[in-house]
Amino acid sequence: MNNMTNPINDSCKFNAAIIGCGAIHALHADTVMHSPLAVLSSVADIDPARAKASSEKYNCNYFTDYTKVLEDENIDVIHICTPHYLHADMAIAAMEHGKHVILEKPMAIKLPDAEKLIYTSDATGKQLGICFQNRYNTSSVKAKSFLTSGRGGKLLGARAFVTWYRDEEYYTGSGWRGTWEREGGGVLINQSIHTLDLLQWFMGDINRIKGSVDTRALKKVIEVEDTAEAAIQFESGATALFYATNCYCANAPVMIEIVTENAVLKIEDGLTIKYNNGDCESYSEVDRSTGAKAYWGSSHKTLIEDFYSRLAEGTKFPLDGSEGIKALQMLHAIYSSSKSGEYIEL
Ligand SMILES: NC(=O)c1ccc[n+]([C@@H]2O[C@H](COP(=O)([O-])OP(=O)(O)OC[C@H]3O[C@@H](n4cnc5c(N)ncnc54)[C@H](O)[C@@H]3O)[C@@H](O)[C@H]2O)c1
Repeated sequence: MNNMTNPINDSCKFNAAIIGCGAIHALHADTVMHSPLAVLSSVADIDPARAKASSEKYNCNYFTDYTKVLEDENIDVIHICTPHYLHADMAIAAMEHGKHVILEKPMAIKLPDAEKLIYTSDATGKQLGICFQNRYNTSSVKAKSFLTSGRGGKLLGARAFVTWYRDEEYYTGSGWRGTWEREGGGVLINQSIHTLDLLQWFMGDINRIKGSVDTRALKKVIEVEDTAEAAIQFESGATALFYATNCYCANAPVMIEIVTENAVLKIEDGLTIKYNNGDCESYSEVDRSTGAKAYWGSSHKTLIEDFYSRLAEGTKFPLDGSEGIKALQMLHAIYSSSKSGEYIEL
């Protein structure tokens, strides 16, 4: 580590540390740096050059052994931005060391590990927030509010499309993507997990799922699926059709359409609500200034700020482990269904 002390450290603020200084960590670090409630105290990465570069950019301590930030009694909150296979163990260890955790998606690769995360958060009393930032997009918030208001009447159905592009270097250059052991899957667990989460958030509890996965491109490079589809039946009687691929020529905006008795909602880089009587409302996404890749959604900042606000207020962060596990249950049902050819009950 270096011994740099952060000059803006303020005893009233939460001391934060980030584990994993790769692509996504800058969104976490930039948000903490500008937060009135938090200060970035340390970063950790097994790659010394990455850890050092981040510490110089954000004027904080750095470690190459993440257990050092767990042992630092001054750290209140740990952001986990590491590869998927490390999420559960790191987050459980952090909570057991008395830290609150903001955990990148997926919360775990395997469902028993996700359940252990929920148990540990309850047992330690430490907050666990899962980065499904797209729930904070303007279009998602407006759609959820419309659906819960009852203005749409009965939910009839939905369709969702994630059509993105990932090249060979995306997988081979990472050391963890494209493998079952380290990534835990492909387009389902990494890219379209956000869309699965939104579908269940909008549409409610799921009854059963039938789906399939395939590897259409880069079969010699990756073990995992790059394409998936599913039919999702909800308790309400509505059905959703879902398609996701990393084999498109571009990273197109995610499209989610929801049909209700009184209106059709379409999210595609903004939200349009077309009422059966001809009226129409539209909402564009705000805050494109975070530097986030647009197709990721631009709401990391909002989610992280909400997490710190809840900590400061002493209230529960809503996107916790019990919410984070739902999309994981959906994608594991799709993997199982793809093997068995049967509907999987949830
Ligand atoms: N919420 C989103 O929309 C979104 C977007 C992109 C990435 N992510 C998630 O963020 C996580 C990281 O993704 P990324 O694209 O930044 O990956 P990355 O490979 O660019 O970065 C991961 C970093 O973790 C470090 N690391 C690996 N093992 C470590 C260890 N034992 N201790 C400390 N550091 C270690 C690596 O050296 C690397 O710097 C993944 O879970 C990914 O799914 C989420």
